[in-house]
Amino acid sequence: MEYLETAIDLARAAGDVLMHYLSRDKQIQFKGRANLVTIADKESEALIIGGIRNRYPSHDILAEESGALPSTAKSGVRWIIDPLDGTTNFAHQYPFYSVSIGVEEAGEIVCGAVYDPFREELFSGVRGHGAFLNGERIQTSDVDHLSHALIMTGFPYNFRDHIDQVMAQFRGFLLESQAVRRGGSAALDLCYVAAGRVDGFWELNLQPWDTAAGRVIAEEAGARITNFAGNPFSIYMKEILASNGRIHEEMQSVVQAASVARP
Ligand code: IPD
Ligand code: CA
Ligand code: CA
Repeated sequence: MEYLETAIDLARAAGDVLMHYLSRDKQIQFKGRANLVTIADKESEALIIGGIRNRYPSHDILAEESGALPSTAKSGVRWIIDPLDGTTNFAHQYPFYSVSIGVEEAGEIVCGAVYDPFREELFSGVRGHGAFLNGERIQTSDVDHLSHALIMTGFPYNFRDHIDQVMAQFRGFLLESQAVRRGGSAALDLCYVAAGRVDGFWELNLQPWDTAAGRVIAEEAGARITNFAGNPFSIYMKEILASNGRIHEEMQSVVQAASVARP
């Protein structure tokens, strides 16, 4: 698919930008108490936006650092970009971060690419045509009990506003699953569900650029993705529950019990 080729080219080129800055002055600024932005986020995003504008001037863009950049044409296509997912990890040289580029057409994510430049792992997916890691087909795991499952999560920057719910969910999964990991790049977390490296993922308050590409990659690998209530997921929702499908109901029970336990 033509859009996917562009997404892959730009994700790889943006990954090179991140690697260039990894051991250099990152010019860290604070968007919030724990929410960072670096020169690498900005240059990666400028490169991706430039590449899309060049090839598809009539398409809309939604990018984390620039916001919505609508085009005057009504193409119905929108590129949704996180130029560096995992900025905190990147700032500390903790090697778990990615570039995420998803393409939305007529309201549906049709393809996406997530690139981990440290491991040179390129995850991709096209709606109806499967999910791939460096060109090899990937699929979700076949673990069918939460007690045998490795689960990932992340904490939103505004976790202090939701501390009871976040901790109740974390406690629930710690008690019910085999183990819980906190990666620090939601886009990669979804790709790890897709590749069967973990069996499930949940998080509160993600943004569309965190999940656009990962969503199509995970679903094409066989993942089930819903909100906490088990309803169909949209990248514009504030809740995500992704799994290999087999442990979904058990995961849903944990997040719902944690919501009920909220004071
Ligand atoms: C963050 C990462 C992290 C998640 C946060 C996101 P950023 O994105 O995806 O894993 O827990 O909620 O905001 O800020 O590094 O692009
Ligand atoms: Ca992000
Ligand atoms: Ca980001």
